[in-house]
Order: sequence, then structure tokens, then C-alpha cells
Amino acid sequence: MSIYAPDPELKQQAATLAERIGLPRVLQEPRQGTFLVVTRQGLELCEVNERKKMKKLQVDFTTAAWTLRLQRVRKEQLIQAMGRTTPEKSWIIDTTGGLGRDSFLLAAAGFNIRVFERNPVLAALLADGLSRTAQHKTMEIAKRISLSSGDARHYLETRRPVADIIYLDPMFPPRKNSAKVKKELQIIQQIVGNDGDYDELFSLALQNANKRVVVKRPKKGSWINSMHPSYSVQGKTIRFDIYLTGSLKNQAF
Ligand SMILES: C[S@@+](CC[C@H](N)C(=O)[O-])C[C@H]1O[C@@H](n2cnc3c(N)ncnc32)[C@H](O)[C@@H]1O
Repeated sequence: MSIYAPDPELKQQAATLAERIGLPRVLQEPRQGTFLVVTRQGLELCEVNERKKMKKLQVDFTTAAWTLRLQRVRKEQLIQAMGRTTPEKSWIIDTTGGLGRDSFLLAAAGFNIRVFERNPVLAALLADGLSRTAQHKTMEIAKRISLSSGDARHYLETRRPVADIIYLDPMFPPRKNSAKVKKELQIIQQIVGNDGDYDELFSLALQNANKRVVVKRPKKGSWINSMHPSYSVQGKTIRFDIYLTGSLKNQAF
């Protein structure tokens, strides 16, 4: 993977980013493979396959599709999985940031989010997407999100943070019908592989969440760490497993 900036005026920006995330900067557009492109419209992840077909990925919360989705944010199963709580008074740690879609939905519903992404390329794409909400009506949503590039386990281990809810959406091996896996998810999968160490993250989450841990799973996927959830919220293709913690732990459903 490398970084490329076609515009001479953006070369310094590309060099700074390359140094920060530890990637080589190249002077010509790579003919094949995966690379980051610094443009005036933001940071793009490009993938060129052996047939020279290019796929592009950018984090952009200002699109018409996002505007539409945000209008119905309260109906999202993700938001329902957070329970009956006052979002504005609640802190969520999103331990698996990815492209930030779940964090953005949660922030749009009013929650305050601390999000971690340990893959530096994805963290850079997400930071870029959040920064481009400036001057846009979604800016107020982005202000509720604080992004850290790093492993959420280190934070949970060393800081003993105060969080009402801890959210996990780890990358699992692709399912049999992987053809249906969305383009974005495929690209993330290629970059980060599978998050095989989620068991430790989940244990730390259970120790640190004041109210609940919410885990996103494929609809028919097994429970994380084989642990029976307090209850689940079912979607069409996915499921949210909710583990009540603290004084709510023994509440019956
Ligand atoms: C399936 S993706 C998450 C997608 C995300 N929920 C979204 O809405 O875009 C999983 C991501 O979690 C990240 N991740 C996994 N374990 C992590 C950890 N311990 N700390 C920080 N990031 C982690 C991976 O690098 C990957 O980008």
C-alpha cells in the first residue's frame, strides 16, 4: 500500500500523511493494488485489480443517501439496541470504528461517542470524512464524535474509562454468501483481515460498561465468546446482542 497525490500542491499534505501512518509516498499512480490518493475532495482509497478495474472508497457523510438515512435514524435497529436512555447524557465507546458509519448514526441520534480504529489507513479515511462535515449541516453530528487512532483494548485496559455503553462490531470471516457482502466491507476486510482477538476486547468491554455492551453480529452468527446475551434486536441481515452490565445485569427480559 502507498500514498499518491496527483495535484502538486497536495504533495506536502501527502508526505505528512505518509509519515504519520507509515506508508511510502509514490510519485506515479500505481497501476495495480491498493493505495491512498490525496485529492482536493478528500482522501480516497483506490483498488485496481489485474483487469485494471478500479474501485474507490471515501468516507463521506454529506451525501444525499446519508441525509435520507439520518432523517430516520431513530428507526435504526442500532439505535434501538442502545435501550431507553437519554442519548445526550450518555457516552458510548465504539471500539471498532471502521468507516465510522455506526458511530455517525449513534451521534446523529444524540449520543456522545469516543471511537477507536486501530488500522491507520481506516482511521485516516474516517478522520478525513469527519473533517469534511465542516461547513455542512452534519457538522453538529461530527462534533459529538471523538476519534482515536489506536487499539481500544489499550484504552480499556489502562484508563478504566467511564462509558454507559460499549459497542463492538468486529470483522468476522466472510459468510458463505460472501458475494452479497457489500463493496465497502470487502475492502475493509482486505485491509484489516479478521479481528480474531475480539474475545479480549469483549471481556474488557464487559468490565468497563456501566449499562450495556452491544455486539453486532450476522443474523445467524454465533454469540460472541459463546456467551448468551441478555436479549437481541433482530434486523434483516444482522443482529445486535445486548449484554446488560452493572446493576442492570440480572434484569429479566
Ligand atoms: C467490521 S469493521 C467495523 C465497521 C464499523 N462498525 C462501521 O460502521 O463502519 C471492524 C473494524 O474494527 C477495527 N478493530 C477491531 N478490533 C479493534 C480494536 N481492538 N481496537 C480498535 N479497532 C479495532 C478493525 O480494524 C476494523 O476496521
